[in-house]
Amino acid sequence: MITLNYKNADTAVIGKQHGLDIEKEFAKHQKKMAEIILDLNKRKDKRGQWLQWMNLGYSEETAWYVKEYASMVQGRFENILILGIGGSALGGIAMTEALLKPYWNMLSNEQRQGLPKIFFLDNIDPDTISGLLDVLDLKKTLVNVITKSGSTAETMSQFMIVKDRLERELGDSYGQNIVATTDQKTGILRQIAEQEGYKTFVVPDDVGGRFSVFSAVGLLPFALVGIDIDELLEGIKDMDLALKNTDIKENIAAQNALIHYLMDTQKNKNLSVMMPYSSRLKYISDWYVQLWAESLGKETDRKGKVVNCGPTPLKALGATDQHSQIQLYNEGPNDKVITFVRVGEFDTTLEIPKIFDYTGIGYLGGKTVNQLMNAEADSTRVALSDYNRPTITITLPRVNGYYLAQLLYMLEVQTAIAGELYNIDAFNQPGVEQAKNYTYALMGRAGYEESAQSLQDKMAAV
Ligand code: PA5
Repeated sequence: MITLNYKNADTAVIGKQHGLDIEKEFAKHQKKMAEIILDLNKRKDKRGQWLQWMNLGYSEETAWYVKEYASMVQGRFENILILGIGGSALGGIAMTEALLKPYWNMLSNEQRQGLPKIFFLDNIDPDTISGLLDVLDLKKTLVNVITKSGSTAETMSQFMIVKDRLERELGDSYGQNIVATTDQKTGILRQIAEQEGYKTFVVPDDVGGRFSVFSAVGLLPFALVGIDIDELLEGIKDMDLALKNTDIKENIAAQNALIHYLMDTQKNKNLSVMMPYSSRLKYISDWYVQLWAESLGKETDRKGKVVNCGPTPLKALGATDQHSQIQLYNEGPNDKVITFVRVGEFDTTLEIPKIFDYTGIGYLGGKTVNQLMNAEADSTRVALSDYNRPTITITLPRVNGYYLAQLLYMLEVQTAIAGELYNIDAFNQPGVEQAKNYTYALMGRAGYEESAQSLQDKMAAV
């Protein structure tokens, strides 16, 4: 199992002013934490609770359909192109970057064992969209358009561009190069898919975008590029079992949620930095940033009281950002909890050759880059604690689907528990809707005329 070490957030290491007496806090909050864990597990099967993501690890039917489809199309496509944004893309990017061989798209077909390359378009920059479409042979590309609502402007505009080109290149059979992942019944993409006869997969009810990575949203792209999705499901199930434990001393999601909550509300540390020491895990931070920000950043609590709460998530990468952000983290405001994600064993052991004997670099020769990475992570953690900065360390024995699924699922549960501690709804995102509506209004979508008028008035006033 992955592990979590919170020693460097404790008063014993970083002092009373910035640290927490963690054992005491665990004992003090045990009852409440147990209630939260039980309550989440009780509510997870009820409609409208947005907790269906807690069941995704057990969804053998989805896994079966996904694998079936992936094996059916295997060998037919050179590329997979994912269209989606936010929760419809970030999990896919994070997991494929971590689990596929590095520089996957640059490997030969043989090195990829006949599996396709994978590309994500998760933005609407005209230069990058055109650039990608210029290099992709659409005839040999399977396009997976992913949108739960079926109407997100960014995704649907990408889709319209790609569909138009596909149709011009392939004629009537173009639909065979499209697979849509969307709501089972509602939304414009669902209607289009039915009219045009696309193969479809479902974003299940009561699963929000940022909690959807283990639904068909993620599983389909993973299966298409040969990632073992059964291994992922095993990881989620084992973690889910562990996180059902109501004893906070045994439940790492509860521990980390409580530590972050107390650091924010008692110690004024409302920044949460995610810093993996592994390039393969770099995009886990982007996924986490969305999960933490959209879930916990809320104006009102459950009773409607204005609270404007939410710790701000930040991303960093070890060792790279030691040369960029650590100066600030050590000596700037002591307002952060830094989470290191460490890897026990890298897949490769890479030796640094003994080719120079200059005093300043000769010591590196004969060591491994693995040793250097670990030494840097240890040194940064200790240096931060010398400055009384709290850090948490999560360790994955190695980077594989089993441990990575554990990590992501643990962070999801941690976020849900934190939402309960803040007493907010972690599963809505009203703050995103306002700007979305303004965009619709600016782009002339029917029904948004009033927003357009109000927007124009506000724009004229500045
Ligand atoms: O987490 C969320 O709910 C959002 O980030 C959505 O995933 C994002 O806005 C995309 O929405 P949709 O899948 O409806 O296109």
